[in-house]
Amino acid sequence: MGWLCLPEVAATSKVFNFSAGPGVMPAAVLAQAQREFLSWNGSGLSMLEMPFTGEEFKGVLRQAREALRALLDMPDNYHILFMQGGASAQFSLVPLNLLGNARLADYIETGYWSCKAIREASRYCGVNIAASSAGTYFDRMPQSWHLDAHAAYCHLTSNETANGSQFHGIPNTGHLPLIADMTSDFLSKPVNVQRYGLIYAGAQKNIGPAGLTVVIVRNDLLGRARPSAPAVFNYQAQAEADSMLNTPITFAVYLAGLVFRWIADMGGVAEMERRSVQRSAQIYHVIDTSDGFYRCPVQSAHRSRMNICFTLANEGFTTRFLSGAAAQGLVNLKGHAVTGGIRASLYNAMPDEGVAALTDFMRRFTVEHGCHV
Ligand SMILES: Cc1ncc(COP(=O)(O)O)c(C=O)c1O
Repeated sequence: MGWLCLPEVAATSKVFNFSAGPGVMPAAVLAQAQREFLSWNGSGLSMLEMPFTGEEFKGVLRQAREALRALLDMPDNYHILFMQGGASAQFSLVPLNLLGNARLADYIETGYWSCKAIREASRYCGVNIAASSAGTYFDRMPQSWHLDAHAAYCHLTSNETANGSQFHGIPNTGHLPLIADMTSDFLSKPVNVQRYGLIYAGAQKNIGPAGLTVVIVRNDLLGRARPSAPAVFNYQAQAEADSMLNTPITFAVYLAGLVFRWIADMGGVAEMERRSVQRSAQIYHVIDTSDGFYRCPVQSAHRSRMNICFTLANEGFTTRFLSGAAAQGLVNLKGHAVTGGIRASLYNAMPDEGVAALTDFMRRFTVEHGCHV
């Protein structure tokens, strides 16, 4: 009985969610989903109850796909797949689907998540580390790459969620298909899809519902899967089945479609980029003008606009910072378990007031702890 009351209690107080994932959802999308929860489009059925083979869900999926295509101005020679298994499944599915007869792939090593992708890929093929910033503790994105002529593709992580670094420009890989894990900066800026052979993104950041993974794949890369690849994880099979080879995550696809429409209504991905540039700059400014009270380990030109990672010079203040922030409604600021410190994730749905409240709190915290910003 008691737990049923919890959401109502939470909804009455102003809370800003800086979680790295699942992250903040647009309030307008949650409200619409709530309105439609029991009866979608006057049907008398919840979207949770719709058969995926019915016209209603097929229409929802089609609209979500078209909305995403329009947001990214995507050419016709790319398929959009709605898959399951999270972005981590793609660490295996990329080599399983794209190696073909090749035995080697290039990987760019930039932090926690690219290392995970590399570890998983090495179960299926040789890995050439074409570039790495491990030597400088992942404080930057490497700009010069040494690609191997025998590699099937080159894989990178566009935004390192745990380390707080991001590519703000991608070197040319020539004819070699470029594969990007865009899980934590997807739809936060315009992307020239044609530069990529494949893009994947777990949905739990800028798309919304955890569990869903969006895969954008160029047509000519289909049909290379190993025969042993499970059918539901075969890109070509899912493309041919319109992502409905088995029961898709119907409610997640519906929610993703609402988020895509919300982004379009807000002004599209160019507007998301304008906002993220401005908002991240506000927090980095507080860090950089704090006389070393706050420290960001990432070089300025490579800092993430989505996940702002920083430490306090006096580590003993970290717990106090987190509890003080939470008392002000600024929640889920704890850094990644491996990197520690503080992490403020500024996904698309973070309201400007949340960023203002955080910068305000950070300034007050320095004053209260003996250092003026
Ligand atoms: C860049 C990046 N790649 C992959 C993942 C793994 O995603 P999932 O938990 O959906 O497997 C994450 C999760 O945060 C991530 O940030």
